[in-house]
Amino acid sequence: MSKKDQIQKNNVPVHIAIIMDGNGRWAKARGEERFVGHQEGVNSVRAVVEASAEIGVKYLTFYAFSTENWSRPKAEVDALMGLLVKTIKAEVPDLNKNNIRLLGIGNLKALPIDVQEEFEEAIQETAHNTGLTVVIALSYSSRWELKNAIHNIIKDVKQGQVKESDISDELISSYLTTKNIPDPELLIRTSGEYRISNFLLWQIAYSELFFTDKFWPEFRKEELYEAIIDYQKRERRFGKTSEQV
Ligand code: FPP
Repeated sequence: MSKKDQIQKNNVPVHIAIIMDGNGRWAKARGEERFVGHQEGVNSVRAVVEASAEIGVKYLTFYAFSTENWSRPKAEVDALMGLLVKTIKAEVPDLNKNNIRLLGIGNLKALPIDVQEEFEEAIQETAHNTGLTVVIALSYSSRWELKNAIHNIIKDVKQGQVKESDISDELISSYLTTKNIPDPELLIRTSGEYRISNFLLWQIAYSELFFTDKFWPEFRKEELYEAIIDYQKRERRFGKTSEQV
């Protein structure tokens, strides 16, 4: 039976979040520039989006650029920004053809103006789609997002729009950039690193974590199916006992 056929259709994660890692090392192992790894990484993004749409995942979040990534060499940051603009622009027709909506999370205002504009345009142009939602985390970090949320909650409490007694999990979630996006059931990280790296710290409280040694450019449809099959074998207890769930 193929890996795809082994997936139980009634237990596909609604939301999968991915920390794409290892582009640089993948390229280096081939004697190529790091950028070649990022370019090949785009093909993995495409494959994983396609596979997710086919099996009925509703939300797919990619950690494409963290707030910490701004401290990489300027040439790499510029090249990554260029690749993002080019990729997003080129993919809009296919996204529309496949009923896929694009969303962005993170400190998008920190992005170069052309990236902001292209991204905003792609978001508008796909806003009507009702199939898979692809969320790109750009200039994102969880601590930035949480600090921002705390500032805004305090401001709204001071202005009387929120009462201190209103503060709940749901209220905090509604102040995050992932507002209206369900928490991921599955978080995947590639390249043999076992870290969360400031990604969706609040949202992954109950997520299942899947780590693989494959570098991101090697992570394609079959690797996604493997991660989902592994997820489906797990018992999600949310703090309860096995007997209770
Ligand atoms: C991690 O590899 C990858 C990134 C920081 C960038 C990922 C970006 C893309 C694949 C571009 C397109 C994305 C979308 C969603 C359109 P690394 O550079 O940290 O690799 P290393 O750990 O081996 O150095």
